[in-house]
Amino acid sequence: MRKVSAAIACGLLVAAGLAGCGGDSGNDDGKITMGFAQVGAESGWRTANTKDIQEAAKAAGIELKFSDAQQKQENQIKAIRSYIAQKVDIIAFSPVVESGWDQVLKEAKDAEIPVILTDRAVDSQDTSLYETFIGSDFVLEGKKAGEWLVADAKAAPGPVNVIQLEGNTGSAPANDRKAGFAEAIKADPKIKIVASQDAEFTRAKGKEVMEALFKAHPEANVLYAHNDDMGLGAIEAIEAAGKKPGVDIKIITVDAVKDGMTALADGKINFIVECSPLLGNQLMDLAKQVLDGKEVPKRVLTEETTFTQEQAKAALPDRKY
Ligand code: AHR
Repeated sequence: MRKVSAAIACGLLVAAGLAGCGGDSGNDDGKITMGFAQVGAESGWRTANTKDIQEAAKAAGIELKFSDAQQKQENQIKAIRSYIAQKVDIIAFSPVVESGWDQVLKEAKDAEIPVILTDRAVDSQDTSLYETFIGSDFVLEGKKAGEWLVADAKAAPGPVNVIQLEGNTGSAPANDRKAGFAEAIKADPKIKIVASQDAEFTRAKGKEVMEALFKAHPEANVLYAHNDDMGLGAIEAIEAAGKKPGVDIKIITVDAVKDGMTALADGKINFIVECSPLLGNQLMDLAKQVLDGKEVPKRVLTEETTFTQEQAKAALPDRKY
């Protein structure tokens, strides 16, 4: 409808001799062009998310302009500005951090290009700067991780000392998974977070940070990693320290990508909270609805579950990512 109304408005202007419809959406061939500014390629989750979005765009007949910000906000802002300059029909992006988006979102709004947030939220007070936000409830994910630990700690003879590997500082999943977990473990004073540090959602950093934190806190007997990749890196550090992951150190992660699920089925991880990267089809549907002028919900939640070791063994053969 937006495209149709733009064309009618343009026609009227031309008829009235006022031409100059350059401000409308980029191409007049009826094809939708989406500019997508991805966070990066930091994790197995992100790779699966990118693939899913690219495949969904193709299936929906949407032309996708894709950029990888390498986990840097300034790169994402540059990409969004370039999509505005190219007059794409719609912009979607997964914000690397929560803050600092108002200016560029206003620029998109002034250019009449609707924006959809995928996977991660922004903390803008003005919610009219974007159409909708599709993604997980990260606070709930953190809570599920904490609740599992509270139940598991019932059998623990002594203190439960947790090392937490956080995702990128300032990102919505790091903020929310930390908050949800802290909220849940309040239920048991025996559980204490002895160290917590940013490991950037990557395997390499997960290993490096775990090495340092475990040296400083040999009393740790639980690892909570905000994603599978950091957990998998930490497993290498735990093994190098001569300990058995999943036994000497209980491990809880978030995502449930294939590598994480394999480590869970092998007994090296104890519990995984799922975070689904398969947002592509819903994103393309929402984009079409927005461009048709239809009302869309401001928040679209992803459906997710959790996995124990036994459940991982059963789910692995059909795991797509
Ligand atoms: O925003 C989703 C998170 O970002 C995933 O949990 C993590 O693996 C990714 O890098």
